[in-house]
Amino acid sequence: GDYSGRYRPQIHFSPPKHFMNDPNGMFRDDQGTWHLYYQYNPTGIAAGNQHWGHATSEDLYHWVNQPIALFPPRKTQYIFSGSAVTDPNNTSGFFPSQKNGVVAIYTLAEYGQDGSPGPQTQAIAYSHDGGYTFTPYKGNPVIPSNSSQFRDPKVVWYQDHWVLVIAYAQDYEIGIFTSPDLKEWKHASNFSHTGLLTLQWECPNLVQMPYLDSDGKKQEDMWLLAVSVNPGAPLGGSITQYYPGHFNGTHFEAVDNAARIADFGKDNYAGQFFYGTPADEPPVYLGWASNWQYTQVVPTGEEGWRSAMTLPRRSYLTKAKRVGWRLVTEPYDLEPVMGSQLASNNSLVNGSLAVDFARVDSNALYWEANITNLPKTGIPESATLNFTLLAPQTGEFIRGGYYLGGDTPFFIDRGGAKGFDNVFFTDKFSTNTLIDGDSWRMSGIIDRSILEVFLDGGIESATVNYFTTQPLSLMVLSTSDMPKGANVSVSVHALESAWA
Ligand code: FRU
Repeated sequence: GDYSGRYRPQIHFSPPKHFMNDPNGMFRDDQGTWHLYYQYNPTGIAAGNQHWGHATSEDLYHWVNQPIALFPPRKTQYIFSGSAVTDPNNTSGFFPSQKNGVVAIYTLAEYGQDGSPGPQTQAIAYSHDGGYTFTPYKGNPVIPSNSSQFRDPKVVWYQDHWVLVIAYAQDYEIGIFTSPDLKEWKHASNFSHTGLLTLQWECPNLVQMPYLDSDGKKQEDMWLLAVSVNPGAPLGGSITQYYPGHFNGTHFEAVDNAARIADFGKDNYAGQFFYGTPADEPPVYLGWASNWQYTQVVPTGEEGWRSAMTLPRRSYLTKAKRVGWRLVTEPYDLEPVMGSQLASNNSLVNGSLAVDFARVDSNALYWEANITNLPKTGIPESATLNFTLLAPQTGEFIRGGYYLGGDTPFFIDRGGAKGFDNVFFTDKFSTNTLIDGDSWRMSGIIDRSILEVFLDGGIESATVNYFTTQPLSLMVLSTSDMPKGANVSVSVHALESAWA
């Protein structure tokens, strides 16, 4: 693949060429290598002809593209989304003499000659070489069905059995199945009609999660059910919703019936948590950084590829004092791609800092801002912290900012970028996280065509594609009308390309 294109993310994963959508089969192997598979059309730059592409990484930023891992068995059948697990104890019987066996569990999507959708059944394939090549199981399908809306199995291990969650897409229902061996599956329960319904539920994930209470104290682990919804997300198209809750091996019970979405941007869908993350490390998430509303027409097609994944993110659950249950996500250790500090200021009170990064080859940046010593009351509504990224040649920009005393505290605006004109490519996003305590933090990254922002340690986050006709090369961070006594410190770093 050619990763030099102006829109090509330099620290995010994107496919060598052609079209990618959902992450699939993510697991960490016994050597510590991270495996990412993904919905892949190796013959076009729009969705279709789904295979499982494959890449591996030691640090979740530097990826090595691997040969395609799963191929459609015939012309009228595609390999849709699914998951993978390691089977060191040979529960499946596929691996009598090895510890590094891998089983992929995925949807076989049937299509008629005329392109009409046929049954979606669940199949498995096993790998004797640690996840590089797979053999389909002769007994497929392992979960038969006549429905054309039954897909995206995600498997985890629970104490003494396998658990599979799967979407009955147009029934707003998640099925939970159990198995001793990944071959024989028994239906155990359903979870349905909770939160957002939209038009389809897809790509469920069930994962054990660390839980930090509102004082930041670690409590007993909980479980998280994540469900991607599309089309009909609150901001249009696709988004991921989630339910904090409890799981007993067969039934999931959410803490309440509320709808909660994982991102206040529009470009975070079909995410998965890696299987096999060490028990003492938080779960690691990776999503598809796009939206079905416009993913097939974004201008990266001019460079011969479409779609990138989000940054890898460490995750945990909390119950924040003012906003309640939250899935918190923050970038996985950025150290492997962190470059030099370009600028910093430890008291950016009612001032601004301009950073010319035209010479940063990656065209990718990381920044953070910390506001401390905020008074309990009396923050003026006009108090702001803003960031703007500019392409000075054309005047294009993307920006965001925080109104410390306002009712709609944080916004992102990608409307100043002129490289993509599409009615569904919504410009502006905002969230209402309120200050909790006397400090507030933001961190962000830009990576050629992706902006990601994390607020207050990841209690809120946004993933936003942007397309400028010229590269961004100037960053301005500024504050105004800060309350008396408050302090702001900021720093901006270059990021180093993982693909150069
Ligand atoms: C989600 C999805 C899945 C399906 C896959 C097909 O984006 O629609 O439900 O398995 O994409 O590529």
